[in-house]
Amino acid sequence: MKIAFAAPGKFKGEALAAAVFENGQLSASAKALDEASGGAIKRALKSSRFSGKKGQLLDLVSPNGVEAARIVLFGLGKEAELGDLDFERAGGSLYGRLASSGATDATVYVDDLNDAKTTTQSAAAHLGLGLLLHSYRFDKYRTKEKPEKKPSLKSATVGVAKAANARKQFNELKFIADGVFATRDLVSEPANVIYPESFAAEAKKLASLGLKVTVLGEKEMRKLGMGALLGVGQGSKRESQLVLLEWLGAKNKKSAPVAFVGKGVTFDTGGISIKPAAGMEDMKWDMGGAGVVFGLMHLLAARKAKVNAIGVCGLVENMPSGNAQRPGDIVTSMSGQTVEVINTDAEGRLVLADALTHVQREYKPRAIVDLATLTGAIIISLGNVHAGLFSNDDELSERLSAAGKAVGEPVWRMPLGEDYDRLIDCDAADMKNVGGRGAGSITAAQFLQRFVDEDRPWAHLDIAGVTWSSKDKPTVPKGATAFGVRLLNQLVAQHYED
Ligand code: BES
Ligand code: MN
Ligand code: ZN
Repeated sequence: MKIAFAAPGKFKGEALAAAVFENGQLSASAKALDEASGGAIKRALKSSRFSGKKGQLLDLVSPNGVEAARIVLFGLGKEAELGDLDFERAGGSLYGRLASSGATDATVYVDDLNDAKTTTQSAAAHLGLGLLLHSYRFDKYRTKEKPEKKPSLKSATVGVAKAANARKQFNELKFIADGVFATRDLVSEPANVIYPESFAAEAKKLASLGLKVTVLGEKEMRKLGMGALLGVGQGSKRESQLVLLEWLGAKNKKSAPVAFVGKGVTFDTGGISIKPAAGMEDMKWDMGGAGVVFGLMHLLAARKAKVNAIGVCGLVENMPSGNAQRPGDIVTSMSGQTVEVINTDAEGRLVLADALTHVQREYKPRAIVDLATLTGAIIISLGNVHAGLFSNDDELSERLSAAGKAVGEPVWRMPLGEDYDRLIDCDAADMKNVGGRGAGSITAAQFLQRFVDEDRPWAHLDIAGVTWSSKDKPTVPKGATAFGVRLLNQLVAQHYED
């Protein structure tokens, strides 16, 4: 998808899009189009339910007086309430409409804003980002799709005053889309294509962006004593891997980094505690946390963020086999703590445990955020809207909540505490890997906390409900969402850069 910026000028393009505000108040471009078309826009407003509310769209096909094949009106609601995110969503919705319209090129007008919460040029740049984000499609395995079913839109021009300024802002934002797409690509791939070693091979390619990439195999991990992670992978023919991505962009290369740790179970059958057949194919995206770490590190390096950051991806395949871990097995983690594996399907926490120990010993990070498609229970709690946030640090929690709101990747804080922690106490070992029936997401987080140093700011994001979407949203087409990439990029930009 090509996105250009140009001065509004005379109407041109196969499709033209113009804004309408609350109560049918026409933007300057909509007004001009109304005049050129002999009042077609006002008539269309009268004969439809479109009233300029945020998110509404209305198509006018082959209007008189303009060369374009169609005009699309997009509602923005009240101007005074408009921020960048609203323009992103407007761009995303417009892409959805235009892509199935047959138009190959479109011009979207962003007129001068008077009292919005953002500037005209920033709004235009974010509208461009929204168009781009919705244009993502994972269709490499579709060999027989008819051309008329494929998205028609190939390019769009955002018509805005001081276009060069908008273009400059868009070029910065484009790094976000690149990072998001890198994550979506990895998460969408099936598990016969992306498994620990092939994921690691993709990670090695990130070296071209200036990242230092280290891959540990099973032999190295055994030496480090990562019995918890290795136990999960031992039933698989695929070798487990730990990927370390280092970006040293701060002035002082020796200052403590911020660390991001992702669960990368490239396929989760459940192991010997095997999952039911229905829906098991979804477990190809059980590496979503690692996928986000990958896309985030891609983004930080590409935009040369002034931060020292470490990304860790714990990569395993959870399979049943003659060599698989059994319920009741006791493993010794890198931290020295022992775990009785009551349920081999509670594997993500075992992988993260050793990844967390390693990153703390090796890098002494100033803060850690882990991401994992950890529990089905978080989907029961929060559905597919918020990610679950668990943390030992109020400041980090507030920063994450604010960042999530700003970029449209919301998180909701859940409790931690002694009484929950006791639920994973165990007679046979230091802890068991599952609690009881209740509070499944919290006991999972308590398990992780047992591997985090007491004073180290840490947050855990349970992204099981938000990693994959079954319906199109304005800036997130259905499929892999990359939820977390933008959130953590925003967190870094706001709080951890020089
Ligand atoms: N990967 C799953 C969690 C999951 C479920 C993610 C559905 C996305 C959609 C995780 O490894 C798992 O199996 N968790 C178990 C834990 C249980 C055995 C304590 C669960 O949630 O059922
Ligand atoms: Mn599982
Ligand atoms: Zn899992």
